[in-house]
Amino acid sequence: MERPKLNHHGSKRIETKRLILRPLSNKDAYDIFININNDKQVLDYFKAPYYENFNASSIDSLVRLSNDPTSYCWGIELKEIKECIGIFLQQARNDYIGSIEIGYAIGSRYWNQGYVSEAVIAVIKYLFNDINYHKITAGHVIENLASKRVLEKCGLVYEGIRKDDFFHNDRYYDIIHYYIINPNHKQKIVIS
Ligand SMILES: CC(C)(COP(=O)(O)OP(=O)(O)OC[C@H]1O[C@@H](n2cnc3c(N)ncnc32)[C@H](O)[C@@H]1OP(=O)(O)O)[C@@H](O)C(=O)NCCC(=O)NCCS
Repeated sequence: MERPKLNHHGSKRIETKRLILRPLSNKDAYDIFININNDKQVLDYFKAPYYENFNASSIDSLVRLSNDPTSYCWGIELKEIKECIGIFLQQARNDYIGSIEIGYAIGSRYWNQGYVSEAVIAVIKYLFNDINYHKITAGHVIENLASKRVLEKCGLVYEGIRKDDFFHNDRYYDIIHYYIINPNHKQKIVIS
């Protein structure tokens, strides 16, 4: 098969039943502070700085990533309250082989209501159908059973374990990797 060509469109607005995924702007700084950088439970397994005070916090790098037409970073807005309850962003990426690793986090008061699974399903559709990525991956530390469950619910499957693949809070973690291949890319098997 020919190597798939990517059609980058950046972090376009994506609407689901309960959520709007949209590029972050500086107006979202307080919501991100409350739901991510000041929420110690979120930061247990998610690498982001902890800020005690809003004045010390910044989302400039996320806003830049959100507005880069070849990168992927959304704020997760809950329609019902018009609050940005979390973020969804690219981690590692290899555009030559068409592979992208996703990451996500929402404030702990919103956990276990299906929001991130709803976001993951929508982003998978966008990255496969609109951008034409070949493979989407995600990883979680062994202890993060909620993230494991999200990935399984969204159709990703186990790929393997990378030892000491994440350094966070003064220790290494093994990472369990999951993947899903773009179903639009059917490979012909040639037997010689
Ligand atoms: C991981 C995270 C994104 C999940 O978001 P969420 O919106 O709560 O996810 P969902 O509600 O869509 O799904 C969570 C699932 O995990 C399950 N779950 C939660 N805690 C669990 C546990 N300790 N053991 C087993 N399953 C668990 C929930 O029951 C739910 O499954 P179900 O729908 O079958 O009942 C959220 O917990 C979070 O932001 N955590 C901090 C940041 C983070 O860890 N990010 C991922 C880095 S890899």
